[in-house]
Amino acid sequence: MAKATGRNHMNVIGSLRARILDSIKPTDEEIKLATYRANDIIARLKAVAPKDVEIITAGSVARGTQVRGSYDIDIFLLFPKSRDERKMEAMGLKIAQKIVNKKKGESFIIKYAEHPYVKVLFDGGEISADIVPAFRIRTAAEMGSAVDRTPLHNEFVNKHLNERQKDDVRILKAFLKNHQIYGAEAQVHGFSGYLCELMISNYGSFNGVIGRFADLKLPLIIDVGNKAEIDPKSAEGTALIKQFKTDFIFIDPTDVNRNVAASLSKSSAARFVILAKALMKKADMKTFSGAKYSTIISRDAVIGLHKSMGLDVYLLALESDDIADDIIWEQLVKLKGRICTMLAKNGFPPVLALQNASKSSCIIAFFMNRTNLGSVPLGGPSAFMGGSANAFFKAHKASFGFFLYDDKLISIEKPRHVSAESLLRGLKRDPNFIMPSHIKTAGSFFYSNNDIPEDYAKMLYEAFESARIKHF
Ligand code: CTP
Repeated sequence: MAKATGRNHMNVIGSLRARILDSIKPTDEEIKLATYRANDIIARLKAVAPKDVEIITAGSVARGTQVRGSYDIDIFLLFPKSRDERKMEAMGLKIAQKIVNKKKGESFIIKYAEHPYVKVLFDGGEISADIVPAFRIRTAAEMGSAVDRTPLHNEFVNKHLNERQKDDVRILKAFLKNHQIYGAEAQVHGFSGYLCELMISNYGSFNGVIGRFADLKLPLIIDVGNKAEIDPKSAEGTALIKQFKTDFIFIDPTDVNRNVAASLSKSSAARFVILAKALMKKADMKTFSGAKYSTIISRDAVIGLHKSMGLDVYLLALESDDIADDIIWEQLVKLKGRICTMLAKNGFPPVLALQNASKSSCIIAFFMNRTNLGSVPLGGPSAFMGGSANAFFKAHKASFGFFLYDDKLISIEKPRHVSAESLLRGLKRDPNFIMPSHIKTAGSFFYSNNDIPEDYAKMLYEAFESARIKHF
């Protein structure tokens, strides 16, 4: 049922490979500094941790798959499985905080993934290390939490990828970063570092990945451990699609019950397919790096869009609580979806809706055709439905009149909202409109076209440019 994915030797990027690596592979100096820092952190942790806690480096630094200037050092505190999970977490956080030397300008923040961990900032924030408590396991069957698998990922990558392939992981990560689809976090829902490593392991090289994705059709089911593509129509394939509830599956070779691509969105996968096609067509630095935009004044750029697209740009200014970015982003996306539905239901379907967040500021923006509604038709029951028809007449007394569409009654009425602008402006005071728990409306809430202040215009223009597909 499974067919081998094999090695693909086509040479898509050719001599570009060396040029790309030249600009993204960490310099010797950078590797020396990261190694010094990792060893220093491990030594400091060893001095304060109980003897039965094993301390290791994990993630891209331990595997040699990091991209120049954009990675964290991941240090894992591996506790014996016999410990209680909550106590293990609390102890891990305490140990990690103990090593922070504030006198040297070091600082830390507690971050939350599936479990809390400590991010320590060194050298004025130039290097950061994530110190993550986890259980020591030998196989996924022993697993307590998802992070416990990370040392197994280290083993897999170090065993299955050679140096050239590790460089190809760096190229793939850089390509995805350039096009804003790298990272599993909620703001991106893109390709995680580990997924990149598995893609290279499976297809043999960056060129192999691009060759396969350029003509990708879903569903895709990859059994990475066996370097095999499973036929989605086979019994095994159908069962896997049902199990993982998605049609883009990369089975973790260290845990057959995990889809490493679980957080990849359909739009990030689709964006990658378009990019792979573009690279197959023209493999140059511009396609690899993505078209950069530059604006000195984003307000002018937004006014330019408003004029050239012939659309009104409406922006809602919001403020968020100081909690995990992922939670804020999920709430923001949901809020945008709810407002879009509301706009469409009232006769104002947005042409485009975008969101962005920066620190505690968030925005949702809508690109809209300028529509002013005079009256709207409201559908009623069939005239043959006696009781219901009478009730409809009664309920719509103030209408401009009743008409028939075939046998169905229609009442023509004044709309609740005459324009998208009045609907959006009114949201702030609408008691029926419930804001998400961690987002509230800003003091000055509604802006449009020429009135959007520069800092919000910048967030909007950035969202517009990163959503726009530049290669096809
Ligand atoms: N990890 C995972 N699933 C995720 C995120 C992380 O399994 N959604 C595990 C992987 O083993 C990953 C490790 O945690 O390699 C560290 O994750 P992270 O620091 O986010 O990424 P790196 O792989 O180190 O990649 P880079 O720092 O180069 O972006």
